[in-house]
Amino acid sequence: MSPDSPPPKPLDLTRPGLTNPGLTGVPETMLWTLHNRAAEAMRPNARFHDPEAVRIYQALAYDYERHFGRADGSHAMRAAAIDVLLRRWLERHPDGTIVSLGEGLETQRHRVDNGRLSWLTVDLPEGIALRDHFLPPGPRVRHLAADARDPAWMDAVTGNGPVHIVAQGLFMYLPEADVRQLVATLARRFPGGQLVFDTVPAWLSRLTLRGLHRTPHYRIPPMPWGIDADAVAPTLRSWSPRVAVVETLDYRMPRGLPRLMDTLFRLTPALRHKLPGLVRVEFEG
Ligand SMILES: C[S@@+](CC[C@H](N)C(=O)[O-])C[C@H]1O[C@@H](n2cnc3c(N)ncnc32)[C@H](O)[C@@H]1O
Repeated sequence: MSPDSPPPKPLDLTRPGLTNPGLTGVPETMLWTLHNRAAEAMRPNARFHDPEAVRIYQALAYDYERHFGRADGSHAMRAAAIDVLLRRWLERHPDGTIVSLGEGLETQRHRVDNGRLSWLTVDLPEGIALRDHFLPPGPRVRHLAADARDPAWMDAVTGNGPVHIVAQGLFMYLPEADVRQLVATLARRFPGGQLVFDTVPAWLSRLTLRGLHRTPHYRIPPMPWGIDADAVAPTLRSWSPRVAVVETLDYRMPRGLPRLMDTLFRLTPALRHKLPGLVRVEFEG
């Protein structure tokens, strides 16, 4: 198999026992990221390993390719980059609490679990219902059906230990004013904590607001918050004086033409800040 050949056909929709995910709107986007992660994990030359994602992917009666098109490795590479940051943080805080906002069907906990961490998932009720089905909570793992913007979920983070918040594939779907308020509240409520989230550039946000189709059968929900990489640090610092460290990071396409395009973008000064990216924030202790 060449590095550019498509991943194996993932799903036979005639199989009995499949679960109908029944999602629409932004919650449905959890199937897009699952598609990209699981398809990467199923490749013979996979750059990302996640048997749990593959299990869930194959158990859902959903025509991923019709909706999202041929899988690409973008979301797998994004998840892998966040895994690295989480593992690094867990080396310093092995008993820490990780809160994943808008976690959908991410199986990140399975990839980074050290046997000691505590994990809290916060997602909308339809996301939590599906997650309860496939990834039931346990002694160190809790699920909360809540709007991440409502600070009520923060009361569920008990103890004084260190807290790491992940918001993967979430902030772009919220209005900027909501992201601003949420980040400022996190900085106040979790002193010394770390936040990792990803961003889309302003041009991509604008396109989705006009109506961007991923395929003829799937329109990407509006992403009202877009920000170019060079604007991230000044923006976050203007939002809260408790933002101590801001690091912008990138994640790369795994291979082929998309990786080449990605490299060309990064080598062009006028374009290098206009790619999706990752942000790591440390809050004042
Ligand atoms: C693109 S998916 C990302 C899922 C997962 N983090 C991943 O990377 O695969 C967006 C997720 O955000 C959740 N979501 C959207 N708005 C939310 C909100 N206001 N509060 C909590 N979760 C939200 C959706 O239900 C969905 O699970």
